[in-house]
Amino acid sequence: MRILLLSHAFNSLTQRLFVELRAAGHAVSVEFDINDDVSREAVALFAPDLIVAPFLKRAIPADIWQRHTCLIVHPGIRGDRGPSALDWAVLDDAATWGVTVLQAEAEMDAGPVWSWREFPMRDATKASLYRNEVTAAAVAAVADAVERCAAGGFAPTPLDPQDPAIHGRLRPLMRQADRAIDWARDDTATVLRKIRCGDGFPGVRDTLAGRELFLYDAHAEAVLSGAPGELLARCGGAVCRATVDGAVWIGHLRDKHAGSDFKLPATHILGPAADALPEIVADGESGYRDLWYVEAGDVGYLHFPFYNGAMGTAQCERLLAAYRAARARDTRVIVLMGGPDFWSNGMHLNLIEAADSPADESWRNINAIDDLAREIIETDSQLTVAALHGNAGAGGVFLARAADQVWARDGVILNPHYKDMGNLYGSEYWTYLLPRYAGSDNAERIVRARLPMGVDEARALGLVDAVLDAAPTAFSAAVERRAADLARAPGFDAQLGDKQRQRRADEAQRPLTAYRDDELQRMRLNFYGFDPSYHVARYNFVGKVPKSRTPLTIAQHRRVSSPTD
Ligand code: COA
Repeated sequence: MRILLLSHAFNSLTQRLFVELRAAGHAVSVEFDINDDVSREAVALFAPDLIVAPFLKRAIPADIWQRHTCLIVHPGIRGDRGPSALDWAVLDDAATWGVTVLQAEAEMDAGPVWSWREFPMRDATKASLYRNEVTAAAVAAVADAVERCAAGGFAPTPLDPQDPAIHGRLRPLMRQADRAIDWARDDTATVLRKIRCGDGFPGVRDTLAGRELFLYDAHAEAVLSGAPGELLARCGGAVCRATVDGAVWIGHLRDKHAGSDFKLPATHILGPAADALPEIVADGESGYRDLWYVEAGDVGYLHFPFYNGAMGTAQCERLLAAYRAARARDTRVIVLMGGPDFWSNGMHLNLIEAADSPADESWRNINAIDDLAREIIETDSQLTVAALHGNAGAGGVFLARAADQVWARDGVILNPHYKDMGNLYGSEYWTYLLPRYAGSDNAERIVRARLPMGVDEARALGLVDAVLDAAPTAFSAAVERRAADLARAPGFDAQLGDKQRQRRADEAQRPLTAYRDDELQRMRLNFYGFDPSYHVARYNFVGKVPKSRTPLTIAQHRRVSSPTD
């Protein structure tokens, strides 16, 4: 079928549907919902059999849904309506939630139902639930709906509010007043729900150190406590604030009134008010942990759930130190676990944007990430694994490929390209790693396509070695079993020997330094050259400036030449 994805942005769910529907053999094109005439033009150009709207902020024009079957993916259970579906589910502590695929009609989210899925809720941010449970449910429900549409003759079920199986209802837009934290009354669980239901967007407006700020990235503290609302301590980039029955860590803040109206580590935004707090070091029980090491048998695991997968200079340096310590241990395998939502998205564009000299900070950040990549590539004492529980993008994909093996959870999406960030050339030794694992022809094709990639395609192209078909909650256990097997495999010594030989041969053919020097020469131009494209693209990305047109890489209907050009 010809399927047009009409979406506010090419967000994670839209990317996943794009990948899955293409893999299922459909011709898929994407148009951003910029204005009604642009949508009409896209429909006229692509002549779709079906329009799927995974992420819309406005209604589809009536003349489009009256002439074409338009399926809306609503992140809510049947009967639920309104723009804050998942926000309410998190705030209300719903035990189960769901996704409904319904036909577009005059009233938003009220059309007949084509398919639906439900799932148990998890204590997590709205964004994490969206990227995991909601996305998995949406993929399954859209697959059902597409099949029904292709088969023909299917009559979607009109919503019957009297049906006892329908539990959803119309909910209004969630306002800041609904999210507001009452520090004198709210317990830790309530504070966490209030922050998580607006994380990643819009955050909870609050007053902190006398300033109006938006709160994100909250975690319960197990030991510290104090007068409700009081700031108690700092740890890494986070600050700890007392609730009535304990305390929470707040990792990230946004200051709407500052020049930089985007998320940054809390201590960065609070400045002297955070510096004045007592500093604590995180351990397994207390503190804000974004980097830790555990060992089980012959395997060492490094966890680094950096917020949004963004890796700033200091984070790369800390990770490098932790990695070196892991290398020095008497283990046989090191597994780089990343975090549950993202493995890595490369350099920390927000910190770069906020720096006095974004060019200098970009340079420091890319060198810090390259140092880490090099250490991984040159590890000759252990076999290394990158275990992708969550997605990876740009430099994060190549950092993962620096490991000997890449294992990815089924459903993970990779974006192995940099050019969308203002023609950024990229580093992380990608010019060595990509051809080595994917072959030169594929490497060139991947770079040119600038498309998201599912795990099956990534495996066929050598970017992933194994796909683990595990639910998000079962992934870590599946990785542990596999890593223990790898460490005990009879062929372990031979594998390690092959790896050392291969590295020596590669180094003799072209030293790693030469790849890095060439990449960084190009990056230097991106950062310091006359063409400001990277700085403009980063400014737009960080400030969430909406795109004014759909990139031709995904708007197939607007291309005049072949999709691989
Ligand atoms: N630095 C800082 N923040 C980043 C980031 C980065 N490198 N990559 C992603 N984020 C943030 C986004 O701003 C967003 O923030 P939010 O919580 O305020 O919404 C969040 O992470 C999720 O990213 P989003 O873009 O919404 O996810 P996606 O699944 O739609 O797209 C990517 C994934 C990787 C395609 C996209 O995030 C991206 O292009 N990131 C930049 C990658 C890059 O160019 N890195 C630098 C070169 S190494």
